Amino acid sequence: MRIPFNDLATPHASIVEDVVAEVRALAGNSRFIGGPAVEAFEQDFAAFCHTRHAVGVANGTDAIELTLRALGIGAGDEVLVPANTFIATASAVAATGARPVFVDVDPVSLLVTPATLEAGLTERTKAVVPVHLFGHMVPPADVLAFAQRHGLIVIEDSAQAHGADAPSDGGDEKSRAGSYGVAGTFSFYPGKNLGAWGDGGAVVTDDTALASRIRSLANHGRSEGTDHYEHRYVGRNSRLDALQAAVLRRKLADLPEATAQRRRVASVYAEALAAHSIPLVAPLSGVDSAWHLLVVRVPGRETVRRLLDEAGIGTGVHYPVPCHRQLAYISDQTVSLPVAEQAATEILSLPFFPHMRDDEIAYVAESLAKAIAAV
Ligand SMILES: Cc1ncc(COP(=O)(O)O)c(C=O)c1O
Repeated sequence: MRIPFNDLATPHASIVEDVVAEVRALAGNSRFIGGPAVEAFEQDFAAFCHTRHAVGVANGTDAIELTLRALGIGAGDEVLVPANTFIATASAVAATGARPVFVDVDPVSLLVTPATLEAGLTERTKAVVPVHLFGHMVPPADVLAFAQRHGLIVIEDSAQAHGADAPSDGGDEKSRAGSYGVAGTFSFYPGKNLGAWGDGGAVVTDDTALASRIRSLANHGRSEGTDHYEHRYVGRNSRLDALQAAVLRRKLADLPEATAQRRRVASVYAEALAAHSIPLVAPLSGVDSAWHLLVVRVPGRETVRRLLDEAGIGTGVHYPVPCHRQLAYISDQTVSLPVAEQAATEILSLPFFPHMRDDEIAYVAESLAKAIAAV
């Protein structure tokens, strides 16, 4: 059996005709930048995230950077970032002139907690960027109480967590990933749970003034309703284009079903892995994960990967080097963050996609158990 790490082609096959129809319409109306396709997607995505606004931007990195800039964060400020995230969380902070301060994570969830965040605090700390890693959401209560205590802004990096939820007993609407911070940022990189056919990103927020400033910064500093050549802010071009918006809007319609399938695949995996006593990085209790990645922790990871590759199974590592140990940041951050460092040597992302079959999952679990036994 050959099992790829991911399979984007199968779900796309069923929507390609719909997308072609959208492309024809765009070719006819020539509204390639902004216009009805982008507006319609932004409205749908805001509703999906339970927020008032969504602003489409060029990618998930810009979504973080432009949000920080719009909030006035820059040189002289510090922003708390988990050490075990994709480097873009950190580079987006650095691009504003602010300093990303890396913090450690909980040994089980691999997510930030109030205690790990506390360790990075200084009087220059202005904001915290919790990352909903692997689709496993950092629950709102943990971060919000910490941020409130220290007067910090919360921006949720939800690049891996479209549709993750932490429903409270009271049915609180602000439990969706991206909706509880001042803003939530998303990536639509093709492999993400909601992936474009190219690059794309968005910021969601309830704050109308913030949404409008981010929109302006992403559009050469133009303000809505003013002349095309009037530039209120020093902005740049970071717009979501209409072709990507059309693809994303079509795919968003299928996202709840795809997320339910991901949750099903994850629960079949959890059972199969438990039968072999292989630890899975699971969401915290009370969180409905978006299950972007299915991550286990294994000894002798590189050998295990090679053996799985020989068995026809694709794997990934997210991420092999924590941010504070990357050459780009190492001279600035001499801290030791032992949990993130240890996890980086053990984590292994298994094949995972919504339409994965039970026999494929069983084959991966058995092959993994054999590989671990052979190490
Ligand atoms: C956690 C996280 N943050 C930020 C990003 C950056 O998104 P993009 O690649 O769209 O710039 C990604 C994905 O690539 C990510 O996984």
